[in-house]
Amino acid sequence: MNSLPKDFYWGGSVSSFQTEGAWNEGGKGVSIYDVRPTPEGHADWKVAIDEYHRYKEDIALMKEMGFNFYRFSIAWSRIIPNGDDEVNEEGVAWYNNLINELIAAHITPMITLVHFDMPYKLVKEYNGFASRKVVDLFERYARVCMERFGDRVKHWMSFNEQNLHSCRLIYSNAEIIPEGKTLPEHLYQVAHNVMIAHCKAVKALRELVPDAKFGGMTTITNYYPATTSPQNMLFCKQAYNLVSLWVAHVQAKGEYPSYYTAYLKQRGWFPVFEEGDEELLKYTCDYLAFSYYRSNVLTEGTFDNTTPFADIVEQHTVPNSYLKATEWGWEKDATGLRIVMNDLNERFDLPCFILENGMGHREELDENGEINDDYRIEYHRNHIQEMKNAMFQDGVNCLGYITWGPIDIPSSSCQVAKRYGFVYVNRTDSELLDLRRIPKKSFKWVSKAFKSNGEEL
Ligand code: BG6
Repeated sequence: MNSLPKDFYWGGSVSSFQTEGAWNEGGKGVSIYDVRPTPEGHADWKVAIDEYHRYKEDIALMKEMGFNFYRFSIAWSRIIPNGDDEVNEEGVAWYNNLINELIAAHITPMITLVHFDMPYKLVKEYNGFASRKVVDLFERYARVCMERFGDRVKHWMSFNEQNLHSCRLIYSNAEIIPEGKTLPEHLYQVAHNVMIAHCKAVKALRELVPDAKFGGMTTITNYYPATTSPQNMLFCKQAYNLVSLWVAHVQAKGEYPSYYTAYLKQRGWFPVFEEGDEELLKYTCDYLAFSYYRSNVLTEGTFDNTTPFADIVEQHTVPNSYLKATEWGWEKDATGLRIVMNDLNERFDLPCFILENGMGHREELDENGEINDDYRIEYHRNHIQEMKNAMFQDGVNCLGYITWGPIDIPSSSCQVAKRYGFVYVNRTDSELLDLRRIPKKSFKWVSKAFKSNGEEL
């Protein structure tokens, strides 16, 4: 086999808070992003790229780029404004319009239920996913979405980059450590609660939309040892398991991996299970989706009994002299993608799906009003080539190659200057300007690459 399957997916991936804007329109409630301050010099989330009003224009651009797949997230606060109140029909109608427009353009929609954001009330009153009440409210929200959109949407996922919930509290939205608990106890309990919420969504989809697929979603950074010392290798392996892969293990095999259980039990951090949790974990996914942007190099280290694993891994990260990094220090490593695909293939008996890939770059229109982003073309060309190598030469089953932020959107910390798109959006961090969409040089390249099913790179 040296050509990709005819039904291979090509497209783009975004989140609601990074695209929609219209933060207080259409009956939407207050989300955590509406109240959380952004760093100095970054924009705020109020307008983003105004997708709420411009989705038709943007879908036409996606069609021109040869997309047959688009992954977006739903803003929970647009569907159930405060998380625990009535369904907002205006919000449902907006997503119906978006889905219908995509389908009319022959673009397969995928829904992410939670891409970091949630109604603010659920954080303020219940401390987010620290509370099992929020797990139940999430299930209700998931069921509403499946009932309303499941007739047309056949690809679903629960939490974007779910493994981040075990690494960073900011993604868990459970900011207050309950009295009597340590930070790690709290963190890993929240990660468990999020896992149970995820499994409840899988169960709901099996009941409500049995012909749909559920994707697990992990962000994967692979780690290389800085030296050839066996201890360094061991630390890398442990870091890779704990930070990048444990969630995929549960989503594929229906139980916690023994390395994760042992790590937590050794430290007295293993989460409290409620009755029925064990059975819920058995609701596995249909494929393993992941985001991949970079690799990291780690020096030798050990995991102690007080610090969450992700913080220790971060302290041991050093630059890789073989790779070039973006301005933000993300090292570009297409071979790393092939390695990750091989790892998933060796460990789990499920197809994988590249759901986010891309590079951030600072860009301004030149004197001719153009962006000549050869670096971006090179980045995607290299990654698609390595993906093909993984598939053709190593036998990996992969469902698609989906790019992050194909039409420029603010970064995860609302930095407009960090652009990922094939289309420039005319705004800056400090000025909204006219939000005009201007295709970059890479627009033509990606159209050719996608329309030729990855043949013409
Ligand atoms: C992923 C997230 O981690 O990376 C996106 O799913 C995010 O929300 C993307 O935007 C790129 O990261 P950043 O920080 O450069 O925007």
